Amino acid sequence: MSPMKIAIGCDHAGLQLKEKIKELLLRFGMEILDYGTTDGCSVDYPDYGERVSDAVSSGEVERGILICGTGLGMSIVANKFPGVRATLCHDSFTARMGRLHNDSNILVLGARTTDGDIASEIVRIWIETPFEGERHSRRLEKISIIEARLNEKGRE
Ligand code: RB5
Repeated sequence: MSPMKIAIGCDHAGLQLKEKIKELLLRFGMEILDYGTTDGCSVDYPDYGERVSDAVSSGEVERGILICGTGLGMSIVANKFPGVRATLCHDSFTARMGRLHNDSNILVLGARTTDGDIASEIVRIWIETPFEGERHSRRLEKISIIEARLNEKGRE
């Protein structure tokens, strides 16, 4: 089986955590596409959120991880993209539920809100937990219908 392709991105607030998470992903044997940022200079999170979300939305990669200070800005950006289901996770429960119920394809982390070891545990669970399907597929299908309607007509 070919390794899972995963895109990762952050702003300046998430840089240190991104490097830690990349080491973990390598240990899991994943293929990582790092979309930056790569130094500590102050940058705008939408620029990095866009790159990773685009890669997931287009199918270039299976999954993405986004990190900013709180995870809030990155969540707002990522969930604008068709087909993206970005989940901001703070603990092992939200990591697990994000996969089981929401089929999360982008994990969002807040570097200023979540301790590095907890973030690593969140990533491990998010990678290993499958989507449960069944009634949750119906709910995700409803989200896709809303998305298609808004893409077709815009907001009237
Ligand atoms: C940057 O200071 C901070 O605003 C950003 O990392 C993020 O938390 C935005 O939502």
